[in-house]
Amino acid sequence: MNRGQIRFQVRERLRKSGIPRAALEADILCSEAFGCSREELLAHPERQVKPEEVHRLSSIVEARIARVPVAYLKGGASFWGLDLLVGPGCLVPRPETEVLVETALEFFRRGRFLDWGTGSGCVAIALLSEQKEAMALMMEKSPRALLWAWRNLNRFSFLNRALLWHGDSIRKIPSSWLPLDMIVGNPPYIPSPEIPLLMDDVRLHEPILALDGGPDGLQAISAILLEAENALVSGGWLLLEIAGKEQAETLRAMSNRAFELVCVRKDLGGKERIAVWRKK
Ligand SMILES: C[S@@+](CC[C@H](N)C(=O)[O-])C[C@H]1O[C@@H](n2cnc3c(N)ncnc32)[C@H](O)[C@@H]1O
Repeated sequence: MNRGQIRFQVRERLRKSGIPRAALEADILCSEAFGCSREELLAHPERQVKPEEVHRLSSIVEARIARVPVAYLKGGASFWGLDLLVGPGCLVPRPETEVLVETALEFFRRGRFLDWGTGSGCVAIALLSEQKEAMALMMEKSPRALLWAWRNLNRFSFLNRALLWHGDSIRKIPSSWLPLDMIVGNPPYIPSPEIPLLMDDVRLHEPILALDGGPDGLQAISAILLEAENALVSGGWLLLEIAGKEQAETLRAMSNRAFELVCVRKDLGGKERIAVWRKK
């Protein structure tokens, strides 16, 4: 069988299994299994497929039908123009989180920052790539996610400008890093009752610790607001990704003696996404 024939078969298989954008995904999975670019795949449909390639492709297709995210199957995702390594155990970086990086670069000029819940390390690594003098403390509760963050730090040669910290509270970060100039984070913020409604790809395969923000989605955000006070310099910045309008309104209504809510930035879809506080 040649590549053109097998590509068509994969597309039909994915379509019948209800995978959206089956044609595009078939090309991505075939390119992955054959170790070629999509352009090469399309340019040479006549090339014969080797038995080991068929074998590799069929296990990738089966995994996709079980809704394993494409980024996990490819082993990578693009974020802020950087090719990051990702896989089971870490959240796949989302485009809206690039707004967190963009906003942080507006407020943060120099110094040391904490990336709360670093996951793949995408936010910290994007900031380190832009701010050449900055140093990052990357905190993460999940050991599996920490491993992905380490791989990415190593990939971009940032191990000398970052500390990976296995922890779950700002109160327990090493005192030598205090006070911080900025805290950024994309905490879990999906309200628990909405978890069963998520797409299968996310619900079945991405870590629940990265998603579930408690009854109103604000559990981690409220804890960070409490804990950040003693970790930041006066005038320091706290930037958190949030779910949208409802959470933005709740946060605007909250009075906080330590922080002033400076603005809430929208993502490209017009959703209120990044809350920015300044320590009084
Ligand atoms: C929404 S994910 C964000 C991951 C990554 N920063 C990104 O933007 O793709 C939230 C991350 O916070 C981590 N996390 C959850 N609770 C935590 C806690 N109490 N302390 C530290 N990390 C936590 C999760 O394991 C997950 O990696």
